[in-house]
This record gives sequence, C-alpha cells and structure tokens, in this order.
Amino acid sequence: MKTQLKAVLFDLDGVIVDTAKYHYLAWKKLADSEGIYFDEKINERLKGVSRMASLEIILERSSRVYSEEEKQKMTEIKNNWYREMIEQLKPDEVLPGVIDFLNSLKKYGIKCAICSASKSAAYIIDKLGIKDYFDTIVGGQDITKSKPDPEVFLVAAERLNVSPAECVVFEDAYAGIEAAKRGGMKAVGVGNPDILTNADVVYKDMTEVTLEKVLKLFQ
Ligand code: BG6
Ligand code: MG
Repeated sequence: MKTQLKAVLFDLDGVIVDTAKYHYLAWKKLADSEGIYFDEKINERLKGVSRMASLEIILERSSRVYSEEEKQKMTEIKNNWYREMIEQLKPDEVLPGVIDFLNSLKKYGIKCAICSASKSAAYIIDKLGIKDYFDTIVGGQDITKSKPDPEVFLVAAERLNVSPAECVVFEDAYAGIEAAKRGGMKAVGVGNPDILTNADVVYKDMTEVTLEKVLKLFQ
C-alpha cells in the first residue's frame, strides 16, 4: 500500500471513550456545591479545554470572585471526583468501531498516537487495556497550549518522526479540528456535521470509519 498517510492522531474524550460524561458529572457536582448554574449546553464548551480553563467557563455564571488559590482547590476537588469515577473504566467502554480501526492501522504499519488535553490520558488508556496500539500518548502534562492551538498534535508528529502533512487527526470537538488544520494536518470529525463544519469529512461515529475511506483524503 503506497500512501502519504503515516500516522493517525486520536483525540481521546469523545473519540476513543466517552469520558466527557464523567467530566460533566464531576463539574456539575462542583457547580452545585457552589450554587453556580451549569448544564449540558455549557458543558459542550468544556470539550478539549484544559482543567483550569474549564473552571473559568463555569465561573462565568458566578456572581462571586474566586482567588487563584480557591480556583486551584476547586480544580483539585473536581479532579478527585473525576478520578474516582474513571477508576471503574473497563475495556468494554472503548467506543464501537475503535478496535477494528486500530487493528487495520496496525496491519498496515501506520503509526498511532493519543493527543489529549487530559492529564489522565495515559491512565485512561491503561484502564481501557489498549496501550499497545499507541506509539505515543501526548497528554495535558506535555503541552502548554490548549486546542485550537496545534501544539498537542505537533508534539505527537515530532515524537513519531512524521511531518504534519503525513498525519490525519480524529476529533469530536470543533476546537480540535481547528487545531489539526492550523497544524497542517487532515482532520476527520467524529460526531455532528452541523457542528464540525471545519473538518475534511465527518462520520457519525467510529463504526463508519474504515482505512479505505481515510486513505481517500490523501489521494
Ligand atoms: C479534555 C476534555 O480531553 O481534557 C476536557 O475534553 C478536559 O473536558 C480536559 O477538561 C482536561 O482533562 P483533565 O483530566 O486533565 O482534567
Ligand atoms: Mg474530544
């Protein structure tokens, strides 16, 4: 198989596993405890955004001003709740279609990476039992700038020793697609085409994805 495609870079939350629901539950518990209004619509804005930046979005609805120390404490509390929730993650929570696609990439020697804003990325991959599929995991501790900055994807490309033009990114967030494009990569959206309007192509979920379809982006 001759193709320019050398590496597939996966976002984690919403592409490989639905941890977004646990982030939501932990943030909701925190917001409720502070009497701050928070709902699933506001939660959409938290996708792909760092922990502290997520808190800042939630605090937009608060009438109180919080000190940096208080904010630090709040992110710690939220993260402890979140970690308790994901402690129970099992391999059967890997989203449908993911394993088949990873197997086809392995078969053709295409490199794979996880590119996530989460500091728990490696922990989650381990819990899901899919570590061996990935050549590298770039997580929240490896980057300083959140998506839509391309840093997370560029770090992965560098570690894999491939150029951006040889990569395709899988993302469920608009900001993530934007990051891939700014980094000079192809971008596949996973989710709603009305939201992921900046992607090269959008699939409803990973069961619709095949290597054959992805290769068409490189023709
Ligand atoms: C991203 C999620 O993957 O990671 C965000 O989409 C989350 O919602 C971010 O805030 C940071 O995660 P963590 O686990 O480091 O708090
Ligand atoms: Mg995501």
